[in-house]
Amino acid sequence: MNSKLVCVSDFEKEAHKLLPQNALDYYRSGATQEITLQENKEAINRWYIRPRFLRDVSNRNLKTSILGHKVNVPFGIAPTAMQKMAAPEGENASAKAAARIGTAFTLSTIATSSIEEIVANSPNTLRFFQLYIYKDRNVTSNLVKRAEAAGYTALVLTVDAPEFGIRRADVRNKFTLPPHLRMANFQTDDDKSNLVNKSAGGSGINEYVKSLFDPSLTWNDVKWLKRITNLPIVLKGILTGEDAILGQNAGASAIWVSNHGARQVDGVPPSIEALPEVVKALNGQCEVYVDGGFSQGTDIFKALALGAKMVFLGRPLLWGLACGGEEGAYKVLEILQKELESAMALSGCATIDDISQDMVIRKEHYSRL
Ligand code: LAC
Repeated sequence: MNSKLVCVSDFEKEAHKLLPQNALDYYRSGATQEITLQENKEAINRWYIRPRFLRDVSNRNLKTSILGHKVNVPFGIAPTAMQKMAAPEGENASAKAAARIGTAFTLSTIATSSIEEIVANSPNTLRFFQLYIYKDRNVTSNLVKRAEAAGYTALVLTVDAPEFGIRRADVRNKFTLPPHLRMANFQTDDDKSNLVNKSAGGSGINEYVKSLFDPSLTWNDVKWLKRITNLPIVLKGILTGEDAILGQNAGASAIWVSNHGARQVDGVPPSIEALPEVVKALNGQCEVYVDGGFSQGTDIFKALALGAKMVFLGRPLLWGLACGGEEGAYKVLEILQKELESAMALSGCATIDDISQDMVIRKEHYSRL
């Protein structure tokens, strides 16, 4: 791996050189005009940190907990699909990197490594399983049973995907999963494992989702899920206070603020702007997580100040995988750990609890003075 990669954006640039076009476009793209994709990052830059000094930062501690599990850092790995396009070990490499840092890894339903394969390769990782609900409910309840049996500790139900957003590059490329890879959670079910290896003329992944995912979901289906599992349910993809409350009432243990990497509907708010609204609505009743454009220690610091308990990262890990498999993914996590520690120390925070809401302020505040 190139030793000159010292930040996530270096990894991103390098990954752009290394990945095949089909995979790069799939990972990189946002929906339609990609306004929200850009905004996810720009909005983070519109928040400033208000550092405090002379507060003894000699003993730094980045530890926190998520759903009662201890983690060494307040950030973890978001589910991203089909990681074996980025590196041969794919999701296994991400899971191992998460264990080495001591944080949570989320496996996608549409992964290229199976639920059980991850456990065999990385038994000590704190594992969450991301769930899509298929029209055939038996498919989903089987996934739930397998995740439970394999020791996953939470189900992350994605609520923002009755179908996938229009990602123009995937349509142009007629995106398909390379022929040597499969949707590994469905080995005995041909349609669900290899439908995405074909395209009927557009994006193969969008065609897969349209034919198999259930677009009729309502809040009652969250209750259904709750009835069939004892695992805590995290609702991912929430962007409003209203939905956060509905989610909590439906029995969610945590709300994950996300615009799905800006890949669903373009023009929705950047995640960091939706976060305070959700935090306020839930008023401490439920853990709140966030993802969307976070790629530096200072970005994570800002989300924590705004009330996130945990920040999740998707694309940065894909860039890490592309540049160096498990080592690359680990390096990305390690860089973020060092950057967050630096941001904390230089802003007067020795622990995560010290990162208070008054330590961030919108840029506009200063232009009004
Ligand atoms: C996507 C799904 C897999 O955004 O989350 O492509």
